[in-house]
Amino acid sequence: MTNIGLPRGVQDIMPEEVDIWQFIEETAREIFESYNYKEIRTPIFEFTELFVKGTGDTTDIVIKEMYTFLDKKGRSLTLRPEGTPGVVRAYLMNKIYSNNIPWKVYYIGPMFRYERPQAGRYRQFHQLGIEVLGIKDPIADFEIIKIALDFLQRLKLSNLEIDINSLGCIKCRPYYKEALKEYFFSVQEELSEIDKDRLKRNPLRLLDSKDENIIKLKEKAPQSLDYLCEECKEHFEKVKNYLDMDNINYKVNPKLVRGLDYYTRTVFEISTNLLGAQNAIVGGGRYDNLVETYGGPSIPGLGFAIGMERLIILLSKLGINLKNKDKKLIYFLIPEDKYLKTAIDLSQYLIEKKFKINIGNPNTSLKNQLKIANKIGADYVFFVDSITNENKIKIKNLSTGEEKIIPLNELSLELETMI
Ligand code: HAM
Repeated sequence: MTNIGLPRGVQDIMPEEVDIWQFIEETAREIFESYNYKEIRTPIFEFTELFVKGTGDTTDIVIKEMYTFLDKKGRSLTLRPEGTPGVVRAYLMNKIYSNNIPWKVYYIGPMFRYERPQAGRYRQFHQLGIEVLGIKDPIADFEIIKIALDFLQRLKLSNLEIDINSLGCIKCRPYYKEALKEYFFSVQEELSEIDKDRLKRNPLRLLDSKDENIIKLKEKAPQSLDYLCEECKEHFEKVKNYLDMDNINYKVNPKLVRGLDYYTRTVFEISTNLLGAQNAIVGGGRYDNLVETYGGPSIPGLGFAIGMERLIILLSKLGINLKNKDKKLIYFLIPEDKYLKTAIDLSQYLIEKKFKINIGNPNTSLKNQLKIANKIGADYVFFVDSITNENKIKIKNLSTGEEKIIPLNELSLELETMI
């Protein structure tokens, strides 16, 4: 037992749990790739400025949740708190925009936020995300929501709530922000010092405050939908029409603002009432100015991210047991070194036939090897010493206890019944 332990908010994913992680990752890859998205792997740490400018210097993430440190040359680096800024940076650095075609990517990996840990909220957590760059039309908003749902449905999750809202664009949002400022200014004596500061810097951030008092005040606050310009209204109508066309149930939630600064127009969340306070599983939206914020051309973008830990908690709460169809495990009983070569040759063949193999240790007794085979959950044992001049092998099925002696030239046929 070590006395070193783990920092708060991080956890091991132990071999017993890894099946479900791999299953979810494989399902995500399959779904995202079937919509023609390709995987991107961006670095775990980036220059701090990337998140300050992108995620936004008025967000909780940037103000208090980043793991920021200086490297040996005094440059400020940050462990990525989210995937979107890195993807947009890669898009710009590689001048993908010069192709003039939409760019669709997905990512899977760890993110880091210094939050107060609780069930479903960690300091290192994992996201599955997609980003689309270069499509301004509402069809893309519909597509990403559809992809998130397809993925969740593939995991047998239903009865999730989809909330959508529109935050307007750089043209109409200033009017909305002004109205919000006016409203919160009129009740400013009820605001904490932190919230007064938020009001000055970005009144939108008051709307995602978890403070009880603000939650009450929010009830009467102006709503972005009432301030949308004609283009934003039309865009939002079309997103809703597409969702209706596909019979996707959603709720327009005028209170949904999402805690990141880059969003424009559509924002959405998919949540469940089974996870307590940390109920959002998917969060996403449009960010039509982010590429420009980083000094690039005017290119619209949008995407979402799914929290894997929350997904796994939900699956286990619902008793949904998803596992990869596991390969069968064959354990070779090796009485002496002289049988090793036979086992190794045969194991190569079995691996090609999609079995897992475990070669016994000839330095321990056969009895002990058999005990281990049972303990590790082997499906079959192969008695290598039974491969005699007659070219036959003895196979034991450990779950039924049945034993068979099979001529080697019939092994391939036998293997088909063992899968
Ligand atoms: P986000 O809402 O900050 O959005 O995170 C997306 C999801 O990540 C959440 O809904 C939640 O499931 C999970 N998550 C966030 N923080 C934690 C945490 N501390 N512990 C466990 N799970 C967590 C984004 O990150 C945006 N980049 C999404 C996006 C992509 N928007 C456009 N493109």
